[in-house]
Amino acid sequence: MQRLAMGWRREGAKVGFVPTMGYLHAGHMSLVKRARQLVGPKGKVVVSIYVNPTQFGPKEDFSRYPRDMARDTKLCRGEKVDVIFAPTNEEMYPHGENAAFSTYVVEEVLSKGMEGASRPTHFRGVTTVVAKLFNIVLPDYAVFGAKDFQQAAVIKRMVRDLNFPLQMVVAPTHRESDGLAMSSRNKYLEGDLRTQAIVLWRSIQKVQAAVRATSKPLQAAKLKADLKKLIETEPAAKLDYVEFFDPDTLIPTPKVSRGTHMALAVFVGKTRLIDNALL
Ligand code: PAJ
Repeated sequence: MQRLAMGWRREGAKVGFVPTMGYLHAGHMSLVKRARQLVGPKGKVVVSIYVNPTQFGPKEDFSRYPRDMARDTKLCRGEKVDVIFAPTNEEMYPHGENAAFSTYVVEEVLSKGMEGASRPTHFRGVTTVVAKLFNIVLPDYAVFGAKDFQQAAVIKRMVRDLNFPLQMVVAPTHRESDGLAMSSRNKYLEGDLRTQAIVLWRSIQKVQAAVRATSKPLQAAKLKADLKKLIETEPAAKLDYVEFFDPDTLIPTPKVSRGTHMALAVFVGKTRLIDNALL
């Protein structure tokens, strides 16, 4: 992959890159379309499909994360993706005596709260694998989704701090018609759980409406308590966190108004879903 990318770059072709864990959906494909727009018809678009073990906690869904390479390949062909990079675990994290993988990339500020607080080793896994993927694919543009808002912020910071020679692009969250943010994990939502999952989007819309309805700032603590009640009215839903923060620094704010960012994580049955929006 690296040799291929070096050749493309020598020939002057721009390289656009969309890192994914596969089980592709329309949200992923909107990033692929964006990558193609950025590099043009003569440019190259690479999609990586790799379920990265280091970003999953020991009790998380690594082993049952959905996979369907045949379907993913079809979707990529349909968008004229030039290369699918799908490495094995042994290629990404070689092990064995004296040769075990032992270097990690850690972002130490933006990765602490929210997802980082609930999933303590998650972002170390993400920044490490994305740094590796950037060094392998050598992209001019890397396209990420706003669906994982904190992830995009952490990677942007890594790119700046470690001088990766590429441009980060963050594309909007793609939603189902009822507002549920598209996610590979939505596959887990069987029967009634799929309906209950709309509560994340309903929560965001509720705060959007409240912010629009007044010129005075709202109390984050009060909103959090109200949202917990609203969410846990759904029989299978349990709030993990809801946070209000500055979208640039990710610093939580006690007062919520226009321009504040909101993010939440909710268990619906055993499935952990996240969503976020600028208010
Ligand atoms: P994955 O969850 O497969 O997501 C890959 C990319 O697609 C991420 O940038 C994510 O934000 C984006 N994405 C997912 N759902 C989206 C939606 N509904 N609308 C728009 N974009 C969406 O995020 C990861 O994989 C991994 O952490 C990865 C970056 C690949 C590192 O392993």
